Amino acid sequence: MVKAIYPGTFDPITNGHLDILSRAALLFEEVHVVVAVNVRKSTLFSLPERLELIRGCTSHLSNVHVSSFEGLTVDCLRRFGAKVVIRGLRAVSDFEYEFQMALMNKKLDSHCETVYLMPSEQYTYLNSSVIREIAALGGSVSEFVPAAVESKLRSKLGTGRGSGRKSGRGSGTKPGRKKPARSGKK
Ligand code: COA
Repeated sequence: MVKAIYPGTFDPITNGHLDILSRAALLFEEVHVVVAVNVRKSTLFSLPERLELIRGCTSHLSNVHVSSFEGLTVDCLRRFGAKVVIRGLRAVSDFEYEFQMALMNKKLDSHCETVYLMPSEQYTYLNSSVIREIAALGGSVSEFVPAAVESKLRSKLGTGRGSGRKSGRGSGTKPGRKKPARSGKK
Protein backbone atom coordinates (compact mmCIF):
# COMPACT_ATOMS: atom_id res chain seq x y z
CA MET A 1 0.00 0.00 0.00
CA VAL A 2 1.17 3.48 -0.80
CA LYS A 3 1.74 6.36 1.62
CA ALA A 4 1.15 9.95 0.63
CA ILE A 5 1.81 13.45 1.90
CA TYR A 6 -0.47 16.46 1.49
CA PRO A 7 1.68 19.60 1.81
CA GLY A 8 0.45 23.15 2.21
CA THR A 9 0.40 26.24 4.36
CA PHE A 10 -3.17 25.67 5.61
CA ASP A 11 -3.64 29.23 6.93
CA PRO A 12 -6.29 28.10 7.76
CA ILE A 13 -7.48 24.68 6.64
CA THR A 14 -10.72 24.94 4.64
CA ASN A 15 -13.49 22.57 3.60
CA GLY A 16 -11.77 22.48 0.20
CA HIS A 17 -8.61 21.02 1.77
CA LEU A 18 -10.73 18.62 3.83
CA ASP A 19 -12.57 17.49 0.72
CA ILE A 20 -9.27 16.56 -0.96
CA LEU A 21 -7.94 15.01 2.22
CA SER A 22 -10.93 12.82 2.99
CA ARG A 23 -10.88 11.44 -0.54
CA ALA A 24 -7.12 10.88 -0.41
CA ALA A 25 -7.59 8.99 2.87
CA LEU A 26 -9.71 6.46 0.96
CA LEU A 27 -7.02 5.96 -1.67
CA PHE A 28 -3.84 5.68 0.40
CA GLU A 29 -2.69 3.60 3.34
CA GLU A 30 -1.51 6.68 5.23
CA VAL A 31 -1.85 10.35 4.44
CA HIS A 32 0.44 12.82 6.18
CA VAL A 33 -0.82 16.38 6.17
CA VAL A 34 2.41 18.33 6.35
CA VAL A 35 2.25 22.00 7.19
CA ALA A 36 5.00 23.97 5.49
CA VAL A 37 7.11 26.29 7.60
CA ASN A 38 7.28 28.80 4.80
CA VAL A 39 9.34 31.84 5.71
CA ARG A 40 8.21 33.65 2.57
CA LYS A 41 4.54 33.47 3.52
CA SER A 42 3.24 35.71 6.26
CA THR A 43 0.60 33.71 8.14
CA LEU A 44 -2.32 34.72 10.31
CA PHE A 45 -2.15 31.53 12.37
CA SER A 46 1.04 30.34 14.03
CA LEU A 47 2.32 26.88 13.18
CA PRO A 48 1.04 25.31 16.45
CA GLU A 49 -2.38 26.90 15.84
CA ARG A 50 -2.56 25.55 12.29
CA LEU A 51 -1.52 22.07 13.46
CA GLU A 52 -4.12 22.12 16.23
CA LEU A 53 -6.89 23.19 13.85
CA ILE A 54 -6.00 20.50 11.32
CA ARG A 55 -5.78 17.81 14.01
CA GLY A 56 -9.18 18.84 15.34
CA CYS A 57 -10.77 18.66 11.88
CA THR A 58 -9.22 15.32 10.89
CA SER A 59 -9.49 13.29 14.10
CA HIS A 60 -12.23 11.14 12.50
CA LEU A 61 -9.82 10.04 9.73
CA SER A 62 -7.80 7.26 11.35
CA ASN A 63 -5.11 7.02 8.64
CA VAL A 64 -4.48 10.78 8.51
CA HIS A 65 -1.53 12.16 10.48
CA VAL A 66 -0.58 15.80 10.94
CA SER A 67 2.89 17.32 11.29
CA SER A 68 5.04 20.11 9.90
CA PHE A 69 8.05 20.30 7.63
CA GLU A 70 10.75 22.74 6.69
CA GLY A 71 12.67 22.57 3.44
CA LEU A 72 11.97 20.48 0.38
CA THR A 73 8.78 18.53 -0.18
CA VAL A 74 10.81 15.60 -1.53
CA ASP A 75 12.81 15.40 1.72
CA CYS A 76 9.55 15.33 3.64
CA LEU A 77 8.35 12.54 1.34
CA ARG A 78 11.43 10.45 2.18
CA ARG A 79 11.01 11.11 5.90
CA PHE A 80 7.66 9.30 5.83
CA GLY A 81 8.69 6.63 3.34
CA ALA A 82 5.95 8.02 1.10
CA LYS A 83 5.82 7.99 -2.69
CA VAL A 84 3.00 10.35 -3.50
CA VAL A 85 2.42 14.07 -3.13
CA ILE A 86 -1.28 14.91 -3.15
CA ARG A 87 -2.39 18.19 -4.64
CA GLY A 88 -5.76 19.67 -5.41
CA LEU A 89 -6.31 21.00 -8.92
CA ARG A 90 -9.03 23.60 -8.71
CA ALA A 91 -8.93 25.51 -11.96
CA VAL A 92 -6.92 26.02 -15.13
CA SER A 93 -5.05 28.79 -13.30
CA ASP A 94 -3.57 26.18 -10.95
CA PHE A 95 -2.18 24.13 -13.80
CA GLU A 96 1.01 25.96 -14.73
CA TYR A 97 2.24 26.21 -11.15
CA GLU A 98 1.36 22.60 -10.44
CA PHE A 99 2.98 21.41 -13.66
CA GLN A 100 6.22 23.15 -12.71
CA MET A 101 6.12 21.83 -9.15
CA ALA A 102 5.39 18.22 -10.15
CA LEU A 103 8.18 18.20 -12.71
CA MET A 104 10.67 19.86 -10.38
CA ASN A 105 9.86 17.46 -7.56
CA LYS A 106 10.31 14.56 -9.99
CA LYS A 107 13.65 16.02 -11.03
CA LEU A 108 14.72 16.30 -7.39
CA ASP A 109 13.56 12.76 -6.62
CA SER A 110 12.69 10.42 -9.46
CA HIS A 111 10.51 8.30 -7.12
CA CYS A 112 8.21 11.22 -6.35
CA GLU A 113 4.77 11.00 -7.97
CA THR A 114 2.22 13.78 -7.74
CA VAL A 115 -1.44 12.81 -7.69
CA TYR A 116 -4.03 15.50 -8.39
CA LEU A 117 -7.56 15.37 -7.11
CA MET A 118 -10.26 17.71 -8.36
CA PRO A 119 -12.09 19.36 -5.50
CA SER A 120 -15.85 19.11 -5.39
CA GLU A 121 -17.42 21.87 -7.47
CA GLN A 122 -18.46 24.07 -4.55
CA TYR A 123 -14.85 24.38 -3.38
CA THR A 124 -13.13 25.17 -6.67
CA TYR A 125 -12.92 28.90 -5.99
CA LEU A 126 -11.74 28.65 -2.38
CA ASN A 127 -8.39 29.56 -0.97
CA SER A 128 -7.22 30.48 2.50
CA SER A 129 -6.65 34.18 1.68
CA VAL A 130 -10.24 34.72 0.63
CA ILE A 131 -11.42 33.06 3.84
CA ARG A 132 -9.20 35.32 5.95
CA GLU A 133 -10.39 38.36 4.04
CA ILE A 134 -14.10 37.59 4.42
CA ALA A 135 -13.66 36.81 8.12
CA ALA A 136 -11.59 39.97 8.68
CA LEU A 137 -14.36 42.03 7.10
CA GLY A 138 -17.02 40.45 9.30
CA GLY A 139 -18.57 38.12 6.67
CA SER A 140 -19.66 34.56 7.30
CA VAL A 141 -17.31 31.76 6.29
CA SER A 142 -19.38 28.98 7.84
CA GLU A 143 -20.00 27.35 4.46
CA PHE A 144 -16.30 27.15 3.70
CA VAL A 145 -14.52 26.14 6.90
CA PRO A 146 -15.28 23.83 9.84
CA ALA A 147 -16.98 25.49 12.83
CA ALA A 148 -13.80 25.32 14.94
CA VAL A 149 -11.86 27.20 12.26
CA GLU A 150 -14.54 29.87 11.93
CA SER A 151 -14.59 30.37 15.67
CA LYS A 152 -10.78 30.66 15.83
CA LEU A 153 -10.85 33.16 12.96
CA ARG A 154 -13.42 35.26 14.75
CA SER A 155 -11.53 35.31 18.02
CA LYS A 156 -8.22 36.04 16.32
CA LEU A 157 -9.59 38.79 14.13
CA GLY A 158 -12.02 40.17 16.70
CA THR A 159 -14.86 39.98 14.21
CA GLY A 160 -17.53 38.10 16.15
CA ARG A 161 -21.02 38.40 14.72
CA GLY A 162 -22.55 41.76 15.57
CA SER A 163 -19.27 43.24 16.70
CA GLY A 164 -18.84 45.12 13.42
CA ARG A 165 -15.60 45.37 11.50
CA LYS A 166 -12.48 45.60 13.57
CA SER A 167 -8.83 45.95 12.74
CA GLY A 168 -8.28 42.48 11.29
CA ARG A 169 -5.14 42.17 13.42
CA GLY A 170 -4.33 38.86 15.02
CA SER A 171 -3.50 38.35 18.67
CA GLY A 172 0.25 38.09 18.66
CA THR A 173 0.77 36.58 15.24
CA LYS A 174 0.77 38.29 11.89
CA PRO A 175 -2.31 40.00 10.48
CA GLY A 176 -4.48 38.71 7.65
CA ARG A 177 -3.03 39.75 4.34
CA LYS A 178 -4.41 42.90 2.77
CA LYS A 179 -3.97 41.79 -0.84
CA PRO A 180 -7.12 40.88 -2.76
CA ALA A 181 -8.02 37.19 -2.73
CA ARG A 182 -6.91 35.21 -5.74
CA SER A 183 -8.47 32.08 -7.10
CA GLY A 184 -5.22 30.74 -8.50
CA LYS A 185 -1.90 29.82 -7.00
CA LYS A 186 1.38 31.61 -7.02
N1 COA B 1 -9.21 24.00 -1.19
C1 COA B 1 -9.11 25.27 -0.77
N2 COA B 1 -7.99 26.00 -0.89
C2 COA B 1 -6.94 25.40 -1.43
C3 COA B 1 -6.96 24.09 -1.90
C4 COA B 1 -8.17 23.38 -1.74
N3 COA B 1 -8.30 22.11 -2.16
N4 COA B 1 -5.74 23.78 -2.40
C5 COA B 1 -4.99 24.88 -2.25
N5 COA B 1 -5.71 25.85 -1.67
C6 COA B 1 -5.29 27.22 -1.37
C7 COA B 1 -4.33 27.29 -0.23
O1 COA B 1 -5.01 27.46 0.99
C8 COA B 1 -3.51 28.51 -0.59
O2 COA B 1 -4.22 29.66 -0.19
P1 COA B 1 -3.45 31.05 0.10
O3 COA B 1 -2.34 31.21 -0.90
O4 COA B 1 -4.53 32.02 -0.08
O5 COA B 1 -2.93 30.94 1.51
C9 COA B 1 -3.51 28.53 -2.11
O6 COA B 1 -4.61 27.73 -2.49
C10 COA B 1 -2.26 27.97 -2.70
O7 COA B 1 -2.14 26.63 -2.25
P2 COA B 1 -0.76 25.84 -2.39
O8 COA B 1 -0.25 25.93 -3.76
O9 COA B 1 -0.97 24.48 -1.82
O10 COA B 1 0.21 26.71 -1.55
P3 COA B 1 0.58 26.54 -0.09
O11 COA B 1 1.21 27.79 0.35
O12 COA B 1 -0.58 26.06 0.71
O13 COA B 1 1.68 25.35 -0.14
C11 COA B 1 3.80 24.31 -0.75
C12 COA B 1 2.82 25.45 -0.99
C13 COA B 1 4.09 24.15 0.71
C14 COA B 1 3.18 23.01 -1.22
C15 COA B 1 5.06 24.65 -1.59
O14 COA B 1 5.48 25.93 -1.25
C16 COA B 1 6.18 23.66 -1.34
O15 COA B 1 6.20 22.58 -1.87
N6 COA B 1 7.17 24.08 -0.53
C17 COA B 1 8.32 23.26 -0.20
C18 COA B 1 9.58 23.77 -0.92
C19 COA B 1 9.91 22.93 -2.10
O16 COA B 1 10.01 21.72 -2.05
N7 COA B 1 10.08 23.60 -3.23
C20 COA B 1 10.36 22.94 -4.46
C21 COA B 1 9.08 22.43 -5.07
S1 COA B 1 9.05 22.81 -6.75
